[in-house]
Amino acid sequence: MAGIDLEVIYGTALELAAKAGEMIRDAFWKEKSVDTKMSAADLVTETDQAVESTVKAIISAKYPNHKFIGEETTAAAGNHCVWTDEPTWIIDPIDGTTNFVHSIPEVTFSLGFTLNKQVVIGVVYAPIKDELFTAKLNQGAFLNGKKLTVNKTKDISKAVVIMEGGSSRDVDIVDKKIKNIHAMVTNSHGVRAYGSAALNLSHIAAGRGDAYVEYGIHVWDFIAGALIAKEAGATVLDPTGSELDYMHRRVLCACTPELAKQISEKLIHLDMGFD
Ligand code: IPD
Ligand code: CA
Ligand code: CA
Ligand code: CA
Repeated sequence: MAGIDLEVIYGTALELAAKAGEMIRDAFWKEKSVDTKMSAADLVTETDQAVESTVKAIISAKYPNHKFIGEETTAAAGNHCVWTDEPTWIIDPIDGTTNFVHSIPEVTFSLGFTLNKQVVIGVVYAPIKDELFTAKLNQGAFLNGKKLTVNKTKDISKAVVIMEGGSSRDVDIVDKKIKNIHAMVTNSHGVRAYGSAALNLSHIAAGRGDAYVEYGIHVWDFIAGALIAKEAGATVLDPTGSELDYMHRRVLCACTPELAKQISEKLIHLDMGFD
């Protein structure tokens, strides 16, 4: 797109990650004021709101014509967001709010920048651990500047699969998720959950696990991590095996296409709607 210098955008993305990281670190050990949204387990804190409004203000001052999608802005607008071909910043101010509330260090700031609905920059910053995952389209993925490559695991019997319970407390959804976890536990080396979709994808990029599957996430949870995982060599698909739709609230990421296929065939595919 004319007039867009992706190196400048990338520089801003790193500045925003540093700023968000500082705000998250400052608040991490302090008492938090916690509110709930769609369910008793769907949490939001003052820091989620403060990080999002700070980042949004910096973006709109620097790039007044760019679009912005953020979790808390979308919640305030009745959970409605529109993603267009325009240059768009897609932000999750804190991915892993439950971890943040409970002082568990797996919390991240997640930022994806899209052009023509293609994600071209992804940044996931875990400020408590000071781990910065970055990717630019077709230029690889990095952790604190070190190039990342996914594992080579092809068979589920040798895989570690990352899965989450999620924040829905709908019993039918939870029941199906438990069946999926059962299917993975009984067939793999084990199941893990880190409590941040962005970090789960970044972990696959870094070879800290072989696959990740989740139903019920939103575009801001996984747009940046999906680019990071893809750039490290992962297969990132809709869990049914079809092409990923970032608005369809579900993802399957695996270090090899063979593993993705095996996992896809063992899952109950939940449809939790579109963003
Ligand atoms: C949540 C995290 C979590 C996932 C949930 C998300 P939040 O995001 O990504 O890993 O299981 O579905 O909502 O609310 O902490 O930003
Ligand atoms: Ca949330
Ligand atoms: Ca999130
Ligand atoms: Ca969030």
